[in-house]
Amino acid sequence: MNVGIDALYAYIPGNYIDVRQLAIARAEGRDPLKILNLVGQKEMAIPFNFEDIVTMSANAVKGMLEHFNTDVSQIERIVMATESSFDFSKAGASYVQELVGLKKETEVYEVKHACASGTYALLDAVNAVRAGEIKSAVVVMSDICRYERGSSAEYTQGAGAVAVLVAKNPRIIAIEPKTGTCSFNVADFYRPAGCETPIVDGKLSIESYINAVQGSFADYAHKIMLNESEILERLDNIIFHTPFPKMAERAYFALCKNLNYANSERHFEKKVKPSLSIPSRVGNVYTASLYLALASALESADREGIAGLFSYGSGCTSKFFTGIVMPYAGNIIRSLGISKQLSARRKLSIEEYERVFYDQDSIDNDYRGFKVKSIKNGYREYGSV
Ligand code: HMG
Repeated sequence: MNVGIDALYAYIPGNYIDVRQLAIARAEGRDPLKILNLVGQKEMAIPFNFEDIVTMSANAVKGMLEHFNTDVSQIERIVMATESSFDFSKAGASYVQELVGLKKETEVYEVKHACASGTYALLDAVNAVRAGEIKSAVVVMSDICRYERGSSAEYTQGAGAVAVLVAKNPRIIAIEPKTGTCSFNVADFYRPAGCETPIVDGKLSIESYINAVQGSFADYAHKIMLNESEILERLDNIIFHTPFPKMAERAYFALCKNLNYANSERHFEKKVKPSLSIPSRVGNVYTASLYLALASALESADREGIAGLFSYGSGCTSKFFTGIVMPYAGNIIRSLGISKQLSARRKLSIEEYERVFYDQDSIDNDYRGFKVKSIKNGYREYGSV
């Protein structure tokens, strides 16, 4: 039985900054091209001060239910994957359940393992639907990626949410059962309680990411008993967790080099590059990043095929799995108009960005969607405009 992603919707905040302008503003005599070439990021999505993981999730889920005309009575689970949670106990998904009107008989929870938690939630939902435990599930991945002002990680921020509906006979991508895994304990990136921003060892994070990608791919090859180069050849799209475009590019070439894979350059343009277009304009959306990259690849896809997906979560864990892209997936994703929406965003100056993002000040807006109305005793009240 085919089970996978039947509907997908991305909510990206309506503000952005030009990463080149940020690099120039922080250059202090250095050549900004240095960091720009290192990350390959063009734009970064910036949320308003009244947006959080719940408002972005609710916007994504509501948008998905409306766009796909979904029968909400069939939804029996909603899971939120995030690493930007503001509560150690209450699941952000509970707020979302109420805001989008899901029934009381819905399983509601939140999951964590850095950027990989969305993938774990997705694979769990696929298994539950496949086993006949539930009819369909919503997995929503939502994050605000915030680093220390002036750090080298600042050029790789971003914000947004991606909601997916997991169901039988999916219209977008059927997830295949075998997965490869590679996990090991490493201090590349973590955010202990009380820290607003993560503690990051940039170089170690790049090294761990590449090791994990190679490990999970080798484990997958071992499980399906195929040669790794043959698998690379057979994939039509190769999609990576994309904290910044150059990370995906480096990981792909490292993987190919390790395997002495001859067609790497030619296949990069066709199989990997299309997935980097939307992420290069949004930035890192942590848990949602791989699924935004998937949307980017499908937006430019003109035919069905097999997609390989690499998920990485710092700390660390990683998964490699595959999916069969459905015949009309490209048309469906294009009907969302994600790239057009990105072009309609408001560009902030670096000064406005610092005010709204770091100082949490309000700026004038014509925002439409869910917003945080108040926080009383730690409990959040939401409304919509
Ligand atoms: P790095 O290599 O540690 O950065 O991390 P750096 O501080 O050494 O800076 C690199 C160079 O850029 C330096 O030059 C800086 O001076 C220069 P060098 O000393 O080498 O000559 N530089 C500039 N030059 C000109 N103008 C400027 C400027 N700013 C800096 N304005 C990294 C670099 C790209 C990784 C950084 O962006 C970073 O730490 N990002 C966050 C971590 C990350 O994304 N890692 C990717 C893999 S881990 C992952 O994907 C998981 C993640 O999504 C989280 C999760 O799973 O939850 C992050």
